Amino acid sequence: MTLSEQAFAPARRDDVVPVLATARLKLRAPRRSDCKAITVLVNDRRIAANTARIPHPYAIEDAEQFIAAVNKREGEACFVITLDSAPIGVCSVELREDGPELGYWLGVAHWGRGFATEAARALIDHAFGDLEHEALISGARVNNPASRRVLEKCGFQWTGVRLSRIRAINSAAPVDRFRLDRGLWASLKSWGHVNRVA
Ligand SMILES: CC(C)(COP(=O)(O)OP(=O)(O)OC[C@H]1O[C@@H](n2cnc3c(N)ncnc32)[C@H](O)[C@@H]1OP(=O)(O)O)[C@@H](O)C(=O)NCCC(=O)NCCS
Repeated sequence: MTLSEQAFAPARRDDVVPVLATARLKLRAPRRSDCKAITVLVNDRRIAANTARIPHPYAIEDAEQFIAAVNKREGEACFVITLDSAPIGVCSVELREDGPELGYWLGVAHWGRGFATEAARALIDHAFGDLEHEALISGARVNNPASRRVLEKCGFQWTGVRLSRIRAINSAAPVDRFRLDRGLWASLKSWGHVNRVA
Protein backbone atom coordinates (compact mmCIF):
# COMPACT_ATOMS: atom_id res chain seq x y z
CA MET A 1 0.00 0.00 0.00
CA THR A 2 1.42 3.43 -0.91
CA LEU A 3 1.55 6.30 1.57
CA SER A 4 -1.32 8.11 -0.15
CA GLU A 5 -3.42 4.90 -0.15
CA GLN A 6 -2.70 4.48 3.56
CA ALA A 7 -3.87 8.03 4.19
CA PHE A 8 -7.26 7.30 2.60
CA ALA A 9 -7.77 3.70 3.78
CA PRO A 10 -10.62 3.50 6.30
CA ALA A 11 -9.34 3.01 9.85
CA ARG A 12 -9.73 -0.43 11.39
CA ARG A 13 -12.71 -0.65 13.71
CA ASP A 14 -11.41 -3.56 15.83
CA ASP A 15 -11.67 -1.37 18.92
CA VAL A 16 -15.46 -1.25 18.46
CA VAL A 17 -15.77 -4.99 17.75
CA PRO A 18 -16.71 -6.49 21.12
CA VAL A 19 -15.80 -9.89 22.51
CA LEU A 20 -18.95 -12.01 22.60
CA ALA A 21 -19.18 -14.97 24.96
CA THR A 22 -21.59 -17.89 24.54
CA ALA A 23 -21.90 -21.01 26.70
CA ARG A 24 -18.86 -22.64 25.05
CA LEU A 25 -17.31 -20.08 22.69
CA LYS A 26 -15.75 -16.65 22.56
CA LEU A 27 -16.05 -14.50 19.44
CA ARG A 28 -13.45 -11.75 18.96
CA ALA A 29 -11.99 -9.61 16.16
CA PRO A 30 -9.43 -11.44 13.97
CA ARG A 31 -5.78 -10.51 14.52
CA ARG A 32 -2.74 -10.77 12.30
CA SER A 33 -1.47 -13.53 14.58
CA ASP A 34 -4.51 -15.65 13.54
CA CYS A 35 -3.29 -15.97 9.93
CA LYS A 36 -1.67 -19.39 10.32
CA ALA A 37 -4.51 -20.91 12.31
CA ILE A 38 -7.12 -19.57 9.87
CA THR A 39 -5.16 -20.89 6.89
CA VAL A 40 -4.88 -24.39 8.37
CA LEU A 41 -8.59 -24.46 9.29
CA VAL A 42 -10.04 -23.10 6.07
CA ASN A 43 -7.79 -24.78 3.51
CA ASP A 44 -10.37 -27.47 2.77
CA ARG A 45 -12.51 -27.67 -0.36
CA ARG A 46 -15.56 -28.69 1.71
CA ILE A 47 -15.47 -25.23 3.29
CA ALA A 48 -14.48 -23.11 0.31
CA ALA A 49 -16.98 -24.75 -2.07
CA ASN A 50 -19.82 -23.86 0.28
CA THR A 51 -18.95 -20.17 0.54
CA ALA A 52 -19.04 -17.45 -2.09
CA ARG A 53 -15.64 -15.85 -1.80
CA ILE A 54 -13.14 -18.17 -0.02
CA PRO A 55 -10.41 -19.29 -2.46
CA HIS A 56 -9.14 -22.87 -2.69
CA PRO A 57 -6.34 -23.74 -2.18
CA TYR A 58 -5.95 -21.15 0.58
CA ALA A 59 -2.54 -19.61 1.29
CA ILE A 60 -1.29 -17.57 4.24
CA GLU A 61 -1.41 -14.47 1.99
CA ASP A 62 -5.16 -15.04 1.59
CA ALA A 63 -5.54 -14.93 5.37
CA GLU A 64 -3.44 -11.76 5.55
CA GLN A 65 -5.61 -10.08 2.90
CA PHE A 66 -8.78 -11.26 4.61
CA ILE A 67 -7.74 -9.94 8.03
CA ALA A 68 -6.58 -6.63 6.56
CA ALA A 69 -9.94 -6.13 4.83
CA VAL A 70 -12.45 -6.87 7.60
CA ASN A 71 -13.96 -4.65 10.30
CA LYS A 72 -13.48 -1.42 8.41
CA ARG A 73 -17.04 -0.32 7.68
CA GLU A 74 -19.69 0.75 10.14
CA GLY A 75 -22.41 -1.92 10.29
CA GLU A 76 -20.00 -4.76 9.58
CA ALA A 77 -18.51 -7.17 12.11
CA CYS A 78 -16.17 -10.10 11.59
CA PHE A 79 -15.26 -12.48 14.41
CA VAL A 80 -12.89 -15.37 14.90
CA ILE A 81 -14.79 -18.11 16.73
CA THR A 82 -12.62 -19.51 19.51
CA LEU A 83 -12.96 -22.59 21.71
CA ASP A 84 -10.69 -22.65 24.78
CA SER A 85 -8.89 -19.63 23.24
CA ALA A 86 -8.06 -21.50 19.99
CA PRO A 87 -9.61 -20.37 16.67
CA ILE A 88 -12.08 -22.89 15.22
CA GLY A 89 -13.79 -20.75 12.54
CA VAL A 90 -15.02 -17.36 11.45
CA CYS A 91 -18.40 -15.63 11.32
CA SER A 92 -19.34 -12.22 10.00
CA VAL A 93 -21.99 -9.74 9.02
CA GLU A 94 -20.95 -7.96 5.83
CA LEU A 95 -22.75 -5.18 3.99
CA ARG A 96 -23.74 -6.53 0.56
CA GLU A 97 -25.91 -5.18 -2.27
CA ASP A 98 -29.05 -6.82 -0.83
CA GLY A 99 -28.33 -5.88 2.80
CA PRO A 100 -26.31 -7.06 5.80
CA GLU A 101 -25.36 -10.70 5.15
CA LEU A 102 -24.55 -13.36 7.75
CA GLY A 103 -21.78 -15.83 6.88
CA TYR A 104 -19.84 -18.45 8.82
CA TRP A 105 -17.55 -21.43 8.50
CA LEU A 106 -15.92 -23.85 10.94
CA GLY A 107 -12.88 -26.08 10.59
CA VAL A 108 -14.09 -29.55 9.59
CA ALA A 109 -12.87 -31.15 12.84
CA HIS A 110 -15.37 -28.95 14.70
CA TRP A 111 -18.48 -29.74 12.66
CA GLY A 112 -21.49 -31.47 14.19
CA ARG A 113 -21.31 -30.11 17.76
CA GLY A 114 -23.70 -27.16 17.45
CA PHE A 115 -20.89 -24.58 17.38
CA ALA A 116 -22.05 -22.82 14.19
CA THR A 117 -25.56 -22.33 15.58
CA GLU A 118 -24.16 -21.09 18.90
CA ALA A 119 -21.84 -18.59 17.18
CA ALA A 120 -24.47 -17.47 14.67
CA ARG A 121 -26.99 -16.75 17.44
CA ALA A 122 -24.44 -14.56 19.26
CA LEU A 123 -23.63 -12.67 16.08
CA ILE A 124 -27.32 -12.22 15.22
CA ASP A 125 -27.96 -10.70 18.66
CA HIS A 126 -25.01 -8.34 18.07
CA ALA A 127 -26.30 -7.43 14.58
CA PHE A 128 -29.79 -6.52 15.81
CA GLY A 129 -28.47 -5.05 19.06
CA ASP A 130 -25.27 -2.99 18.81
CA LEU A 131 -25.26 -2.76 14.99
CA GLU A 132 -28.99 -1.88 14.89
CA HIS A 133 -29.75 -3.72 11.64
CA GLU A 134 -33.43 -4.16 10.75
CA ALA A 135 -32.97 -7.41 8.79
CA LEU A 136 -30.27 -9.92 7.94
CA ILE A 137 -29.91 -12.06 4.84
CA SER A 138 -27.93 -15.23 4.28
CA GLY A 139 -27.56 -18.06 1.81
CA ALA A 140 -26.71 -21.75 1.63
CA ARG A 141 -25.95 -23.82 -1.46
CA VAL A 142 -28.90 -26.08 -2.16
CA ASN A 143 -26.69 -29.13 -1.46
CA ASN A 144 -25.59 -27.79 1.96
CA PRO A 145 -28.28 -29.01 4.40
CA ALA A 146 -26.09 -28.33 7.47
CA SER A 147 -25.90 -24.61 6.73
CA ARG A 148 -29.59 -24.47 5.86
CA ARG A 149 -30.36 -26.08 9.20
CA VAL A 150 -28.16 -23.57 11.08
CA LEU A 151 -30.11 -20.71 9.48
CA GLU A 152 -33.48 -22.34 10.24
CA LYS A 153 -32.47 -22.94 13.87
CA CYS A 154 -31.69 -19.21 14.10
CA GLY A 155 -35.13 -18.24 12.75
CA PHE A 156 -34.20 -17.42 9.14
CA GLN A 157 -36.93 -17.91 6.55
CA TRP A 158 -36.44 -19.11 2.98
CA THR A 159 -37.01 -16.38 0.40
CA GLY A 160 -36.04 -18.10 -2.84
CA VAL A 161 -33.20 -19.56 -4.81
CA ARG A 162 -30.72 -17.88 -7.12
CA LEU A 163 -27.52 -18.64 -8.95
CA SER A 164 -24.46 -17.24 -7.16
CA ARG A 165 -20.82 -17.22 -8.11
CA ILE A 166 -18.66 -19.58 -6.02
CA ARG A 167 -15.01 -18.60 -6.25
CA ALA A 168 -13.56 -21.98 -5.22
CA ILE A 169 -15.32 -23.85 -8.05
CA ASN A 170 -14.88 -20.98 -10.50
CA SER A 171 -18.51 -21.29 -11.44
CA ALA A 172 -22.03 -20.40 -10.37
CA ALA A 173 -24.27 -22.68 -8.31
CA PRO A 174 -27.86 -22.53 -7.02
CA VAL A 175 -28.04 -20.99 -3.56
CA ASP A 176 -31.09 -20.91 -1.26
CA ARG A 177 -31.63 -17.41 0.11
CA PHE A 178 -32.89 -16.64 3.63
CA ARG A 179 -33.96 -13.59 5.64
CA LEU A 180 -34.48 -12.81 9.32
CA ASP A 181 -36.10 -9.54 10.30
CA ARG A 182 -35.93 -7.74 13.64
CA GLY A 183 -39.58 -8.50 14.47
CA LEU A 184 -39.16 -12.26 14.12
CA TRP A 185 -35.86 -12.20 16.03
CA ALA A 186 -37.45 -10.19 18.86
CA SER A 187 -40.40 -12.58 18.96
CA LEU A 188 -38.14 -15.64 19.19
CA LYS A 189 -36.00 -13.98 21.88
CA SER A 190 -39.04 -13.19 24.01
CA TRP A 191 -40.58 -16.67 23.77
CA GLY A 192 -40.26 -17.59 27.44
CA HIS A 193 -41.01 -20.79 29.33
CA VAL A 194 -44.57 -21.83 30.02
CA ASN A 195 -45.20 -23.11 33.53
CA ARG A 196 -47.67 -25.92 33.79
CA VAL A 197 -49.77 -24.91 36.77
CA ALA A 198 -52.32 -27.75 36.87
C1 LIG B 1 -22.33 -25.22 7.85
C2 LIG B 1 -21.40 -25.39 9.05
C3 LIG B 1 -20.95 -24.02 9.54
C4 LIG B 1 -22.21 -26.11 10.14
O1 LIG B 1 -21.43 -26.16 11.32
P1 LIG B 1 -21.88 -27.07 12.58
O2 LIG B 1 -21.21 -26.53 13.79
O3 LIG B 1 -21.66 -28.49 12.24
O4 LIG B 1 -23.44 -26.74 12.64
P2 LIG B 1 -24.43 -27.08 13.86
O5 LIG B 1 -23.91 -28.30 14.55
O6 LIG B 1 -24.64 -25.85 14.66
O7 LIG B 1 -25.78 -27.39 13.10
C5 LIG B 1 -25.80 -28.23 11.96
C6 LIG B 1 -27.19 -28.80 11.78
O8 LIG B 1 -27.27 -29.38 10.49
C7 LIG B 1 -27.65 -30.74 10.62
N1 LIG B 1 -27.00 -31.47 9.53
C8 LIG B 1 -25.69 -31.69 9.35
N2 LIG B 1 -25.50 -32.41 8.23
C9 LIG B 1 -26.72 -32.62 7.70
C10 LIG B 1 -27.18 -33.31 6.55
N3 LIG B 1 -26.35 -33.91 5.69
N4 LIG B 1 -28.52 -33.32 6.29
C11 LIG B 1 -29.38 -32.72 7.14
N5 LIG B 1 -29.00 -32.05 8.25
C12 LIG B 1 -27.68 -32.02 8.51
C13 LIG B 1 -27.16 -31.16 11.98
O9 LIG B 1 -27.81 -32.32 12.43
C14 LIG B 1 -27.51 -29.90 12.78
O10 LIG B 1 -28.89 -29.82 13.01
P3 LIG B 1 -29.57 -30.28 14.41
O11 LIG B 1 -28.92 -29.49 15.51
O12 LIG B 1 -31.02 -29.98 14.24
O13 LIG B 1 -29.27 -31.75 14.57
C15 LIG B 1 -20.16 -26.25 8.70
O14 LIG B 1 -20.58 -27.45 8.16
C16 LIG B 1 -19.25 -25.54 7.69
O15 LIG B 1 -18.37 -24.78 8.06
N6 LIG B 1 -19.48 -25.82 6.37
C17 LIG B 1 -18.66 -25.21 5.31
C18 LIG B 1 -18.90 -23.70 5.17
C19 LIG B 1 -20.38 -23.36 5.07
O16 LIG B 1 -21.19 -24.13 4.59
N7 LIG B 1 -20.72 -22.15 5.54
C20 LIG B 1 -22.09 -21.67 5.47
C21 LIG B 1 -22.37 -20.94 4.23
S1 LIG B 1 -22.17 -19.21 4.49
